[in-house]
Amino acid sequence: MATGMPECSPALLVAAGLAVLAICSYLAAIVVGRGAARYPPVAGTVFHQVYHLRRLHDYYTDLFREHATFRLLAPGRRQIYTSDTAVVEYILRTNFANYGKGASNYDKTSDLFGDGIFTADGDKWRQHRKIASYDFSARALRDFSGGVFNRDAAKLAHIVSGNAAAKQPMDFQDLLMKATMDSIFTIAVGVDLDTLSGSEEGSRFAAALDDASEFTLLRFVNAFWKVSRFLNVGAEAALRRRIEVVDKFMYKRIRARAEEISDGDIGKAHDTVSKDDLLSRFIQATTSDAGEVDYKHLRDMILNIVMAGKDPTAGALAWFLYMMCKHPEVQEKISEEAADAGEATSSIDDFSRSLTEEALNKMHYLHAALTETLRLYPSLPLVSPSIYLESTAHSKLAGIP
Ligand code: HEM
Repeated sequence: MATGMPECSPALLVAAGLAVLAICSYLAAIVVGRGAARYPPVAGTVFHQVYHLRRLHDYYTDLFREHATFRLLAPGRRQIYTSDTAVVEYILRTNFANYGKGASNYDKTSDLFGDGIFTADGDKWRQHRKIASYDFSARALRDFSGGVFNRDAAKLAHIVSGNAAAKQPMDFQDLLMKATMDSIFTIAVGVDLDTLSGSEEGSRFAAALDDASEFTLLRFVNAFWKVSRFLNVGAEAALRRRIEVVDKFMYKRIRARAEEISDGDIGKAHDTVSKDDLLSRFIQATTSDAGEVDYKHLRDMILNIVMAGKDPTAGALAWFLYMMCKHPEVQEKISEEAADAGEATSSIDDFSRSLTEEALNKMHYLHAALTETLRLYPSLPLVSPSIYLESTAHSKLAGIP
C-alpha cells in the first residue's frame, strides 16, 4: 500500500519545471521589460487607475514625482506615461507620424464622436485640422466669437452680481460650464442654447452631451463595455439614450441651417444669431455641386469642436477664479488692469462690450495669471496617442538614441 505523494515520471517533472520557468520568464519580461534598459520602469497597473479614479490626476502626479517616464501594466497592451518634455517633443513634433489616436480609441469613442477631429487619424485628421485652422484664423469668425464671449460674460456677470446682492450661494463651476457651453455652441452652430437662463431644450441637450461623454470615458476602465453594449444594459444603455437626444437635436439644427442656406434665408430665422458660425461655413464648404449635404459629416465636425472647446475653457476659468480667491492681491491688480483697459461705466453690458480684442491684448497681467493657472491646473492634463511602430518609440522613450 502506498501513501502520500502519487508517483510521477521524471519526464513529467522536467516538463512541468520547464513550463514553470517559461511562465516566470514571461512574467519577468512583462514587469522588467525585454532587455530591461529599453523600457521605462513599471509604476503600477491600469487597475490602480480604477482605484484612484476620483483622484486620477493626483495619482499621476505622485507617480511622475518618482519617474519622469513610467509604465502601467495592462492586459493585452503596454501603456507608457511621460512628463519628460524631450519625449513629449519627440512624440508631438519630431516623430509625429508614428503616433495617432489608434483603433482602440476609435472603437471606444466613435459612437459619440463619429469621425470627427477627436477620433480621426492620418489623412482624415489632416483634413479636419486644415478646415478647423483655416476657419479659426478667419477674421469674421474671430470677430463673431469675440462678440459671443462678450455677450455671455455679461450675462454671467448679471447672474453673479444678482446672487451676490441677494447673498445667494452659487455653484460657480456649474455657471461657468453653462456659460462656455452657450458661447461655444453659438460660435459652432449659430444658435444660443441659453442654458445659463435654464432653457429647457438647450439644457436637455447639454445634459445629454455631458452624460454621453462621461459614459464614453467609462469605456476606458470597463473591460466588459462591449458586452454591456450588446446587451444594451447599464451605462451602455444610458449612453445610447443620451446619444439619441444629442443626435436628434444636432440633426434638427443642421437641417434647419442647410435649408436656410439653400433658400438664401441665412440669418433670417428667429433663433439664428449670425451666418458667421462654423456650421454655416462648413455647410457652404462641403455641400456638393448637386446640393447634397453630408449631415453625418457635419454632425461629427461640429460636435467634436463643441466638446473640444467647452470643458477645457470652463475648467480653466473655474481654476482661475479659485486662484483669485486664494490670492486677493492678484485679483486686485487684475481688476485695476481691467478698469484701465475698458470703458469707465457702471453698466455691466457696456463695460463688457468695451473689452474688445485690442483692450484684452493690453492686459498682460491677466494673461500671465491665466497662463500660470493653466500651468498649475492644466485643463487637459493627459493626452494619449498610440504608437504605430513600437521599436522606434520604445527606444526613444527609454532614452536610447
Ligand atoms: C483653456 C482652454 C483650452 C485648453 C487648455 C485646450 C487644450 C487642448 C489640448 C491640450 C489639446 C490637445 C489634445 C490632444 O492632443 O489629444 C486640444 C485639442 C483641441 N482643442 Fe483645445 N483647448 C482649449 C480650448 C479650446 C477651444 C475654445 C476650442 C474650440 C472652440 C478648442 C478646440 C480644440 C480642438 C478642435 C482640438 C483637437 C485638435 C486636433 O486633434 O488636432 N480648444 N485642446
